[in-house]
Amino acid sequence: MRKTIFTLLAACGLALGAQADEGMWLMEQLAKKYPTLVSRGIQLKEYDLYNPNGTSLKDAVVSFDGGCTGEIISSQGLVLTNHHCGYDAIQQLSSVEHNYLEQGYWAKSFAEELPAKGVVVTFIDRIEDVTPYVLSELKKVKKGTGMEFLSPKYLNGLAQRKYAPIYAKGQAGIELEIKPFYNGNKYLLFVKKVYSDIRFVGAPPSAIGKFGADTDNWRYPRHTGDFSIFRIYADANGNPAPYSEHNIPLRPKRWFNISTSGVEKGDFAMIMGFPGRTNHYALPSEIKEWREIDNDIRIRMRGIRQEVMLREMLADPKINIMYAAKYARSQNGHKRAIGANWGISRLGFTAPAERLQSYVQDWAQRQTDQKARERYTGAIRDIDRSIEERANMRRQLWYLDEGIFQAIEATRAPGLDLQAAALSKYFKSYCNEDYSPSVDAKIALAVLTEYTAQIDRKDWPQALADGLQKYGTLEAYVNALFTQSAFISEEGFARFAKLSAEEQKKALGEDPLAVFATSVRGKLQELREALRPYDTRIDRARRDYLEGYGLANKAQGTANGLEDAWPDANSTLRFTFGEIKGYSPADGVEYHVPTTLEGVMQKENPKSWEFAVPSRLKEVYQQKLYGENKRWAIKKADGSYVMPVNFCATTHTTGGNSGSPVFNKYGHLIGINFDRNWEGVAGDINYLPDYQRSIICDIRYILLIIDEVGGARRLIDELTLVSDPR
Ligand code: ARG
Ligand code: ASP
Repeated sequence: MRKTIFTLLAACGLALGAQADEGMWLMEQLAKKYPTLVSRGIQLKEYDLYNPNGTSLKDAVVSFDGGCTGEIISSQGLVLTNHHCGYDAIQQLSSVEHNYLEQGYWAKSFAEELPAKGVVVTFIDRIEDVTPYVLSELKKVKKGTGMEFLSPKYLNGLAQRKYAPIYAKGQAGIELEIKPFYNGNKYLLFVKKVYSDIRFVGAPPSAIGKFGADTDNWRYPRHTGDFSIFRIYADANGNPAPYSEHNIPLRPKRWFNISTSGVEKGDFAMIMGFPGRTNHYALPSEIKEWREIDNDIRIRMRGIRQEVMLREMLADPKINIMYAAKYARSQNGHKRAIGANWGISRLGFTAPAERLQSYVQDWAQRQTDQKARERYTGAIRDIDRSIEERANMRRQLWYLDEGIFQAIEATRAPGLDLQAAALSKYFKSYCNEDYSPSVDAKIALAVLTEYTAQIDRKDWPQALADGLQKYGTLEAYVNALFTQSAFISEEGFARFAKLSAEEQKKALGEDPLAVFATSVRGKLQELREALRPYDTRIDRARRDYLEGYGLANKAQGTANGLEDAWPDANSTLRFTFGEIKGYSPADGVEYHVPTTLEGVMQKENPKSWEFAVPSRLKEVYQQKLYGENKRWAIKKADGSYVMPVNFCATTHTTGGNSGSPVFNKYGHLIGINFDRNWEGVAGDINYLPDYQRSIICDIRYILLIIDEVGGARRLIDELTLVSDPR
């Protein structure tokens, strides 16, 4: 009886769909969600947000350079995204004389807009459900791998075959893509328009764009001006074209109006963007694996590496610069893993996954058709078994990958496993102006000490076991790796490069570092291959699991298959909505919205590269230069002004949502998304209403920086500024 009630409750909970504000919804699910949006106060019509047969706000949202989101903010193709999304492009355009990362940059005219080579901006012109077509094609596959249902190559081949004649005929820059949803239970075709003449228009100095750097990364209260501006150029007809001085600024179909009226706690907020990856339908066993193997090993091994790095960085200003980006990259994933495990343990996180699993399982067991029963209960069993069977190997892989391969840069050293032509590329990938063999050696000793304590000797890369035997101690072996190798200095490599092919082969077989690196890469490859069958089994089982979930919903009669659920993020266009709201991370602690310029000054620390405040921003603060008539600031009841910087919202976002437009109930831009709080990252598995927050840069801070710090009035004049009734 109790079980039945529990199951019923669970079923209702699931059938009722997502928790408030949960979900990274497909554009086509807008119709279902629209009544909720109305009840939350939206003032737009459904077709203002998404109109499959005309233009809508979604046409102002772009995928920026693959991994991020951006939005169009002017009739002349200006794109706003994050500073950390434009970072690589800005770095590439920088030199010692013109360090745009350090100094910032503002083009004073179109002519000063700098071509950002390699950057692409992608519009989603059309989205079409092609599920019946894909399913019928999949049935025709005779001697396949059985994995076609997820294979990008196969699916895009289908897209080309049927849809290129319809949508891509003779048009430049059109790309077609078919993506699987609900793990292969639904397929959508995306018709994309890809622009490749993208120019860098402006960005604040890193001291604003990356203020707080690693310490504040994944953290709220935040005070970062994380934005940069680019422009799309097109041919005379507005079509994508490779860079040419004859190209002109794109006249986009749609762009965002920008609200100067500001935000308050409780305001409605909506986001569109390209979230990368979530694991919303993970089984309890998978969550456990994520916590106990993946995250745990990452936290442990990166922690050890970062401790060494930081010690060396703080002791030497030169090392500090050389290792800044590497440290940041490492730390970003480290902190994310800590947050995820915190969420999982603290919130008893497997409960929702357990509920989902018993919901599907109970339904499956009631099936009278034995084949169906076997298919869906078998799916759950298959995933659980795979997780169990792969545990030891996965642990080995993660220790090797996180603990050695990614930790010790010299594991990219030349070796006999590489083509001769690739040797120099591998060598330069680590041994460059940012490389210190002595730091790498210290890291190597620290991580290998932990690795050898955690992993059985029989499972080590062979070279490590041999080396330890030969040299007696890890210290001596690591010392040999970093003193007796040709591959820790330019000179060493230059000497090696002069050898004949025969001599090079011999040298690679004898160089201790080359042997070590080869052995590490070989072991990595071996483990990855041994694990592949489990991935395949899990992928298939999860397709069936989701299919079962959909059928169980239908059987309940309370939901229409999978349509009420949101499919896991997969770098496709989604929307999410919620409210602007702070949170309480711990008893007695309360975080508020928005943060202000006051807080930037409170965090100021001229001695720290992370918290230095540029002198111009200080001037702006001290003299309250908040734009003409202080139009960018908040006027308080007592007549004083405060300058908002960041705020957070209950919207459901993940990596890839960086740079996404955040807009109010009128569809006007109020900010851009740039991060999450670390307490909320476990939301990739399950939404955390009390903890999960998107961290957003207030559009008024962006306007202030463009206007008063950048002095780029020509950009402000290009924007459509609007004020909204409160
Ligand atoms: N945590 C943010 C996002 O995942 C920003 C990362 C860039 N900033 C940094 N300090 N690494 O991915
Ligand atoms: N900072 C992330 C990004 O770059 C956003 C997030 O993980 O929430 O996409």
